[in-house]
Amino acid sequence: MAYRPDVGEILLTEEMLQDRIAELAKRITEDYRDRDLLLVGVLKGAFILMSDLARQIALPLEFDFMAVSSYGSATRTSGVVRILKDLDFEISGRHVLLVEDIIDSGLTLLYLLKYLQTRKPASLEVCALMRKAGIQKVAIDVRYEGFEIPPEFVVGYGLDFEQRYRNLPYVAVMRDAGPGEGADA
Ligand code: IMP
Ligand code: MG
Repeated sequence: MAYRPDVGEILLTEEMLQDRIAELAKRITEDYRDRDLLLVGVLKGAFILMSDLARQIALPLEFDFMAVSSYGSATRTSGVVRILKDLDFEISGRHVLLVEDIIDSGLTLLYLLKYLQTRKPASLEVCALMRKAGIQKVAIDVRYEGFEIPPEFVVGYGLDFEQRYRNLPYVAVMRDAGPGEGADA
């Protein structure tokens, strides 16, 4: 357990994550039964969620990914988003479900939603694994929300601190998460 000195309390265990993801996937399967679903994952943070969620959705869906980088410190977003990798597919007329790891200020997601909306999808909804309670700077309608968590910096299950800890199978609070440079999503 080489991570132990940095990683604090476990907020979401593997079992909690998998149970909740199965519930969300069941709802998504029902809601999109008659629609052609395109999952759009936000790299890198959402890649593990995408993988687990998609395998629980019993529909012939398609995948796409975007990679974005938010300017600011490692633990805080500025709301200015740079697109590192755009969509591969045209989304006009498609039913798009944007899959995000965590909503902190909400600024990254707001930016992405506005951006995707300009491409005229038939529908656009959000699935986010976590939302930090009470600190969003903007109101965002999240159709599929996994967990509301306390407003602390967390790592694991796709989420990083300076690119590390994404491979932890659980979500834990990061001890002493100090400022750094250029957080990517
Ligand atoms: P927002 O724009 O403030 O909502 O921040 C969203 C992005 O910042 C997410 O997609 C994450 O990549 C990153 N982020 C926010 N909070 C955390 C955290 O607690 N741990 C790791 N990454 C985070
Ligand atoms: Mg990140």
